[in-house]
Amino acid sequence: MIDKINELLAEVNDMKAKNAEELEALRIKYLSKKGKIPELMSDFRLVPPEMKKEIGIRINELKDRAQARMAELREQFAISDADNSDLDLTRTAYPVQLGTRHPLTIVKNEIIDIFSRLGFTLADGPEVEDDWYVFSSMNFAEDHPARDMQDTFFIESHPDIILRTHTSSVQSRVMEVQKPPIRVICPGRVYRNEAISYRAHCFFHQVEGLYVDKNVSFTDLKQVLLLFAQEMFGSDTKIRLRPSYFPFTEPSAEMDISCNICGGKGCAFCKGTGWVEILGCGMVDPNVLELNGIDSSVYSGYAFGMGIERITNLKYQVKDLRMFSENDTRFLREFESAN
Ligand code: DAH
Repeated sequence: MIDKINELLAEVNDMKAKNAEELEALRIKYLSKKGKIPELMSDFRLVPPEMKKEIGIRINELKDRAQARMAELREQFAISDADNSDLDLTRTAYPVQLGTRHPLTIVKNEIIDIFSRLGFTLADGPEVEDDWYVFSSMNFAEDHPARDMQDTFFIESHPDIILRTHTSSVQSRVMEVQKPPIRVICPGRVYRNEAISYRAHCFFHQVEGLYVDKNVSFTDLKQVLLLFAQEMFGSDTKIRLRPSYFPFTEPSAEMDISCNICGGKGCAFCKGTGWVEILGCGMVDPNVLELNGIDSSVYSGYAFGMGIERITNLKYQVKDLRMFSENDTRFLREFESAN
């Protein structure tokens, strides 16, 4: 009996448990009703009377020791639980940082929205284009300076393949597959080989517009653009069209709006003129219609193209174009409420 007690005492001193489950398993093994120590107690009645006292003391010691050892082990868990004491399960969650729409996306969506209400649908084309869509089909002469290496990114091994310099290439893509009436706008990214500064970048964004049908006139163009300007910049906005030149339109014009910062009185932004330029436009050159398989004796059309950065600058006075592509969240967050 004494040997059995000593054996169990050694086991008890050696008890190890890494977690509450293991500790409970030990309790069941040694201290529960059918555990090893109570079992020993049931054998107690077989102990000769003269030894009862000593054995009784030893068994009690064993039982106390087992309980103390279990308390020690429990305390170790309590200490590691205390490491998690900063876990406050009643605390509200950390605020989730939501992203914001990019200002160029906000303005692009607004442009799309305005023209959609006028019956224009969306079209797009690839950013990596070939010379035909960007230049030839748009009536650029072979020696037109816009084809120059200065402006256009070429692929070295394939000089015919370029990054589009304007979204006018989508005009040709659309006319290729669609017969008039055509009424589309084409937002997208364009690339030009320019030194990056606060006022120029090697890529930016444009929205192209194209309307081809029977009897389309310059008056239609002017009215649509006036409506656009007033929707975008406010109902007091005035427009003016100045004669200009583009290979793909004839006649061509550049459109100014009354400066939305000073209301037309003249300020630093409009350089004292009261007007700011926002887009190029004109009647689709009959050559362009013919080059793209549309009979210019039956159909006429107008087209326009605007820079999204330019419109965004006018709306939000962003002074440095580079801000649009630097992904500085302090800048992007400024547009949270414009979403
Ligand atoms: N493609 C011209 C540019 O990138 C913009 C433009 C001007 C587009 C006149 C047009 C237009 O459709 O009619 O500067």
